[in-house]
Amino acid sequence: MRIGIFDSGLGGLTGYRALRELLPTHDLIYFGDNARVPYGTKSGEVICRFALQHVRFLLSQRVEAVLVACGTVSSNALELLERTFPLPFVGVVEPAARRAAEIASQKSGKILVLGTAATVGSGAYEKAIHAVDPAIEVRSVACPMFVPLAENGFTSPDDLAAVEIAKRYLQPYEDFAPDAMILGCTHFPLLSGVIAKVLPAPVQVSAGEEAAKTMAEKVR
Ligand code: DGL
Repeated sequence: MRIGIFDSGLGGLTGYRALRELLPTHDLIYFGDNARVPYGTKSGEVICRFALQHVRFLLSQRVEAVLVACGTVSSNALELLERTFPLPFVGVVEPAARRAAEIASQKSGKILVLGTAATVGSGAYEKAIHAVDPAIEVRSVACPMFVPLAENGFTSPDDLAAVEIAKRYLQPYEDFAPDAMILGCTHFPLLSGVIAKVLPAPVQVSAGEEAAKTMAEKVR
């Protein structure tokens, strides 16, 4: 079976890598829109237009299922894609939200979501978390600068620029002490060491990895 995977850039490779491990013999086609990254600062309308283009391209490559390995597209355009194309789709929001909610429900019931501005603005992770457990307290923080840091390889926990930017975004949440942190943009696991250095959480949930697990279950 041939599965298409796409993202605004290289972040979705975190999902690709997980899917490749889970489905070693499947044919995987990855598309990263490096020409137009980032998506997280764009409007919902533009994100939807780009998403439709990507699926059309992947269909021209004869894919039979699509992993939307982008938090921004998953939270703004997944329903449109599902309505438009007769294909099985897996986005990153629902799988990551489910895993984090399962963890937080057993603990103090607190989740911190890190995403792009378009993802946080959509409220999609909150909605998916509360569909699992309405009692969970969710805070969400937009970290747009993490995307160019990841795209340019500024990902080491020893990188002073990356650590300073992470402090700006994350230090305000130190007292919140989440049980789980959702790295809700697929670029963010590339910065997991930086993020853990600034705001350690018991569990970091990688949106791309969780989505890959869901896709693997679906097509096996
Ligand atoms: N990997 C994309 C996401 O998951 C990055 C967003 C962007 O391009 O701004 O949201």
